[in-house]
Amino acid sequence: MNDSALRRIGEDDTPRITIELTNRCNLHCDYCVRDDDALHRSPAHFFPLDLLRRIVTEAREVCGVNYVSFTGGEPALHPQFGEILAMVEAEGLQCGFVTNGWFFDRAQSAVLRHRAAVRVVAFSLDGATAESHDRWRGEGSFARVMRALAQCHFHGVPFIVKAGIRRDTSPQLEQIALLAARMGASALHFSHLMPTSQTVETELALTFAERQRAEQEIAILGRILKMPVGVAVGYYNVDPAPPCSALSGASCNVDYRGRLTLCCNLAGYRGAANEPDVIADLTREDFASAYARLRDLAGEQVARRRAALSAQTQDEGKVDLYAGSPCLFCLQSFGKLPWRAAIARSASPAPQTVSSATGE
Ligand SMILES: C[S@@+](CC[C@H](N)C(=O)[O-])C[C@H]1O[C@@H](n2cnc3c(N)ncnc32)[C@H](O)[C@@H]1O
Ligand code: SF4
Ligand code: SF4
Repeated sequence: MNDSALRRIGEDDTPRITIELTNRCNLHCDYCVRDDDALHRSPAHFFPLDLLRRIVTEAREVCGVNYVSFTGGEPALHPQFGEILAMVEAEGLQCGFVTNGWFFDRAQSAVLRHRAAVRVVAFSLDGATAESHDRWRGEGSFARVMRALAQCHFHGVPFIVKAGIRRDTSPQLEQIALLAARMGASALHFSHLMPTSQTVETELALTFAERQRAEQEIAILGRILKMPVGVAVGYYNVDPAPPCSALSGASCNVDYRGRLTLCCNLAGYRGAANEPDVIADLTREDFASAYARLRDLAGEQVARRRAALSAQTQDEGKVDLYAGSPCLFCLQSFGKLPWRAAIARSASPAPQTVSSATGE
């Protein structure tokens, strides 16, 4: 199977901005990328509506942003969620948000009131059964998210399902896809685990060969199901071209503190040693000047990745997973995985390598 059959999903060239509406979350998924203190112990920040309006209007002027993607923490926790959707609608923009679904009963009325502005709701799913999903997201989560999917389907609100590819979910990929299709999802976005500690990597991450098998299965599911099914950027890809909208300059992220950052995957990363992906404090600086520096950072990162791919290809003809996966490469090179540096210093295990992106 070659990977052209695998659909890269969740990415297009539409200029977009991701905004973290809050640092806080009601759930405790142990694998979560976000810093645990920010999620559960720090004071709650809720993105101020005025700042949000200023940023999206400036982003529209500067780089043609017409789509806002809300994330968190749990975005539906924002006490002004309805006003935020109203603002998006009033500005003639469109938005979507990714949610654990727990508070959808509350968010639903705002979504229905401003449905012209809501292009899609993304629900996170950690398994095809209550047992597997609730293992991470707590008792009652699966029932709540299923009810939210059913409500969206009933009201004709377009929704997608997002599911992680991990050791526990990999035997359930087909079940997850069938469930999403039965519930009326308009697409299914899988994404590989981003490791946040050595324990998470050891216990939850797939080996290189297992990742390839999962990707092959997802490619097959994408061919046999009517809804688009694919893998978000992060899968093995040795093409040196910008692999994602953030690195091609089509998207950026604003964290819950109002700081412009490269992408929502890296922001507030649990256990990170550095934050070179944070460009500016937009509470003090206008978007235009900050965005120019973001483009520079993206360009530098594309060049760094190209050099790493080229060096590995020349040395051994093979590219290891941490260079071949664009997101793992970013995590490593931006200092988000200090625990891995320690592993590299100790007796290094043989790298997982393959001879091409196709897995042939
Ligand atoms: C950080 S959450 C924020 C939105 C909301 N709380 C939710 O869970 O949908 C956004 C997405 O990141 C995913 N995610 C969290 N930690 C991850 C990790 N370590 N690797 C890959 N995806 C992860 C979640 O499953 C969710 O789909
Ligand atoms: S993945 Fe989402 S629901 Fe789970 S802890 Fe992280 S922010 Fe909360
Ligand atoms: S982590 Fe890097 S490769 Fe992955 S989406 Fe973000 S900027 Fe792109």
